[in-house]
Amino acid sequence: MNTATDPADARSGGRVVALVPAAGQGTRLGEGVPKAFVTLRGRTLLQWSVDGLLDSGVVDRVIVIVPPDRVAAVGADLPDGVDVVAGGTERTDSVRAGITAAGDADLLLVHDAARALTPPRLIARVVAELRAGREAVVPALPVADTIKSVDLLGVVTGTPERSELRAVQTPQGFDAALLRRAYDTTDVVTTDDAGLVERTGARVRTIAGEPLAFKITTPLDLALARALTDPDTNE
Ligand code: C5P
Repeated sequence: MNTATDPADARSGGRVVALVPAAGQGTRLGEGVPKAFVTLRGRTLLQWSVDGLLDSGVVDRVIVIVPPDRVAAVGADLPDGVDVVAGGTERTDSVRAGITAAGDADLLLVHDAARALTPPRLIARVVAELRAGREAVVPALPVADTIKSVDLLGVVTGTPERSELRAVQTPQGFDAALLRRAYDTTDVVTTDDAGLVERTGARVRTIAGEPLAFKITTPLDLALARALTDPDTNE
């Protein structure tokens, strides 16, 4: 008798583990510390992102991945039950460390620490789609700008049709076995986990993203996040 669990059954009732890679040294925000550790209303972007995941009510465990020299300090600042592991040189190395730490999770979310204001309802929608049987789910928004590809000299090499383009956000959600397979079968370094999963031939579905899930990357983004969380102008 075949007693193997059907992957779709595991997804519908399985354990959800969220990975938050925050091990980059990027200081594009100009605040003198890596982006994930910039503060917004007294809490780091990483803490905001972790709180959003916990508030969603659909995540069983959160694992954050940070620079090796920050593991102890970050662990002390996060709620009980949130695990902290050391990341690697590239973002993909950090996600890989998180996948290993997640053990036997059935569903994995990968969430940018810099998407600090992501509404918990978006996180819940990603998980609901996975539980309904999707194996890879990515929030996405139409793009407002026309996007061009360029070569190293800045010369335009193409203009993709804008209506077919989407800006993707996080959390990106995956059947855990699929994400493990995607990471096991390639050493490609990427900024996008869904891109690795696409290489396996799996179907990645987009769902409607949320403007508030924007990535806080530039000083302008940070100013917007500060305005949006200003207690004097918001109820
Ligand atoms: O630089 P970028 O915004 O694409 O980084 C996305 C996320 O990946 C950030 O939260 C960053 O901290 C994380 N990262 C990581 N390990 C690295 C490089 C980036 O966890 N080696």
